Amino acid sequence: MQSWEDPIADARANTSSVTAPAVFVDQEVTDERVLALTEQPESEGRHEGVTGLESIEIGAGRIEVDDKKIINCRADLNQLVPFKYEWAWQKYLDGCANHWMPQEINMTADIALWKDPDGLTEDERTIIKRNLGFFSTADSLVANNLVLAVYKHITNPECRQYLLRQAFEEAVHTHAYQYCIESLGLDEGEVFNMYRELPAVARKAEWALPYTNSLGDPDFKTGTAEDDQRLLRDLIAFYVVFEGIFFYVGFVQILSMGRRNKMTGVAEQFQYILRDESMHMNFGIDVINQIKMENPYLWTESFQQEIIALIKQGVELEVQYARDTMPRGILGLNAPMFEEYLKFIANRRCAQIGLSQQYSGAGNPFPWMSEVLDLKKEKNFFETRVTEYQTGGALTW
Ligand SMILES: [Fe+2]
Ligand SMILES: [Fe+2]
Repeated sequence: MQSWEDPIADARANTSSVTAPAVFVDQEVTDERVLALTEQPESEGRHEGVTGLESIEIGAGRIEVDDKKIINCRADLNQLVPFKYEWAWQKYLDGCANHWMPQEINMTADIALWKDPDGLTEDERTIIKRNLGFFSTADSLVANNLVLAVYKHITNPECRQYLLRQAFEEAVHTHAYQYCIESLGLDEGEVFNMYRELPAVARKAEWALPYTNSLGDPDFKTGTAEDDQRLLRDLIAFYVVFEGIFFYVGFVQILSMGRRNKMTGVAEQFQYILRDESMHMNFGIDVINQIKMENPYLWTESFQQEIIALIKQGVELEVQYARDTMPRGILGLNAPMFEEYLKFIANRRCAQIGLSQQYSGAGNPFPWMSEVLDLKKEKNFFETRVTEYQTGGALTW
């Protein structure tokens, strides 16, 4: 099973062989070449893919692995096998093996602590409420982007299988936040409206929306270099920045509380969510690298610069979120530590998609995050529950 964040070199190695997404740091691709490829002869038209809802071609030739493509595929999308991208299928299996539900986590201690007037400081309550405010709507936004914008344009059945699993996990996450909000008796209207009422929470969703809106346009189709870059840009905005950077201040804040024995139920919910999220991000990175490998002309120097700028904007917004949610240092944390951490994370994200690291010397002030999230080290929750789910599925039928 994969760790939540295998070392970068391993993450690339995991996606090895024929099916592997590759990193194109050395690819020499000029903008002129993109232009040349964009200007296809009229008769050829655009290379747009199928959706899976085309009428069935009775007697058509059988699908071969080589017919499969991650975008703009023209072979039937309703046949899962033969697999071309084993990494996508493996992530689907890993996601299923990590199945969990929010109601399985005991919230009793959290309810008592929250209701005790002396249980938490105002700053600690602010952190809980703002993070529930951000995440409760953020996961719905991610799910909507997947289902209404991304899914249609990823023309590969094993990747779609994972996308369906991911979409369900996003529903579980929204459920988990709702479950925390309900358990603590928070004002639901206040929490769910934070992303429209509280600038610190609103800014990140606002930043991401144009990317999904662009793809969600019913007339949008991939098939030209410009449109394929649009898809790639959306994937990077959501998988690398939104799920890969915007979630991390909140995760560290809530998990820090859990480490100090405060709000341990909420922290446990966040811990399982973070495991799922790191898998989502790693899947997204594999998809991005696979698209690059199959369509190297998309990864132009100017496009890379645009993506670097996008990642840097993400870091700035998340640093701002750290300052807004934590105006004073608490729990042994402060905003400058988050700035360092976000730069460290952004360097990893850049390397994972084949860009040069942008923040030299950034270290990790929260090394415990890797331990908390390492699937291999977990010894309580999944060992019991995974077994229960698996035997439930394989019982005496
Ligand atoms: Fe999520
Ligand atoms: Fe996610």
